[in-house]
Amino acid sequence: MTMEPKSFQLFPESASNFAPTVDGLYTYMVVVSAFFSLLVAFLIIFFAIKYRARPGQGVPKPVDEHSIGGMILEIAWSVIPLGLSLVMFAWGASIMFSESRPPKDAINIYVTGKRWMWKIQHMEGAREINELHVPVGRNVRLTMTSEDVIHDFFVPAFRTKADVLPGRYTTEWFRPTQVGTYHIFCAEYCGTKHSGMIGWVHVLSAEDYDKWLAQGSGEGSMAEGGESLFNQLGCANCHVKGGHGRAPNLYGAFGTKVDLSDGTSVRFDESYTRESILYPQAKIVAGYDKIMPTFKGLISDEGMLKLIEYIKSLGDPNGVVPGRNLPSEPSDIQKTGPMAAPMSETKAPATVSKTSAATGKQQ
Ligand code: CUA
Repeated sequence: MTMEPKSFQLFPESASNFAPTVDGLYTYMVVVSAFFSLLVAFLIIFFAIKYRARPGQGVPKPVDEHSIGGMILEIAWSVIPLGLSLVMFAWGASIMFSESRPPKDAINIYVTGKRWMWKIQHMEGAREINELHVPVGRNVRLTMTSEDVIHDFFVPAFRTKADVLPGRYTTEWFRPTQVGTYHIFCAEYCGTKHSGMIGWVHVLSAEDYDKWLAQGSGEGSMAEGGESLFNQLGCANCHVKGGHGRAPNLYGAFGTKVDLSDGTSVRFDESYTRESILYPQAKIVAGYDKIMPTFKGLISDEGMLKLIEYIKSLGDPNGVVPGRNLPSEPSDIQKTGPMAAPMSETKAPATVSKTSAATGKQQ
């Protein structure tokens, strides 16, 4: 897709909820800096001329440093700049806090960075590369990870960016306010084609977005993909509903606080899920044995996101996600799981079945 180059612009387009506040702070900082730069420059020149050495005049008498006038002046030029810079601090911090706290009602979209492209996965199943379709006026939350090095997802028109790290999930959110097409950049040097790691955000009207989503990929939602992976990998054999199995209950567990065997606790979030799948021995839930094998190398990054989406869909204890019709016996789960799901999701299907057999033996 090509865009007509715009005539010179001082600012990128203002297309998200953050754009006006970020621009406001930026303008304030420029005005404050410009005012003091000009003031100091003017005073240097003015005093240099006013107090220049004149022929016939001796060295002037020193000013009384302890005069009341001098004191007031000193306090003024300390307190006023302090106040002005504290405004910058408070304003900047409030923007930072709001950018780092995605609202609960946000649509979740997954982003995977990879040298040198952006892979986007929508919960409903649609996927895209270097393109991101979002609806106007809705809160959108990106959950991002990288397959290789550090990247950074930057949309100047939204005034938002965040690092995208391998082995971790970072988030970024925005509410597009204007239908249009905007640049995506990678803002972290990631190798020779870093400058080519670009794309477009397409902000669509609600109807167009629904139409676009409906085209879909025909592969089913992420949670459905995760469910078949969950069954293929044999997770369902131990993680049964209610936690009566050898492994902790996953139903309604996402988002809760989990007590660990070492007496500490951890929040059941995306990163904890990922860690527990790849490094099961890292954090053991209180009351359970160290029997889970690692699934490192058996699950792609996209497969991991699907598993996370599935575990999320198992019901939120706070009732945010409507409960699904869940089977309580592992045998039922096996029957309902679409076993005919594409095996390409896992890199080594043969090893997968071995692992699930091993899981059963390790009691
Ligand atoms: Cu990815 Cu720079």
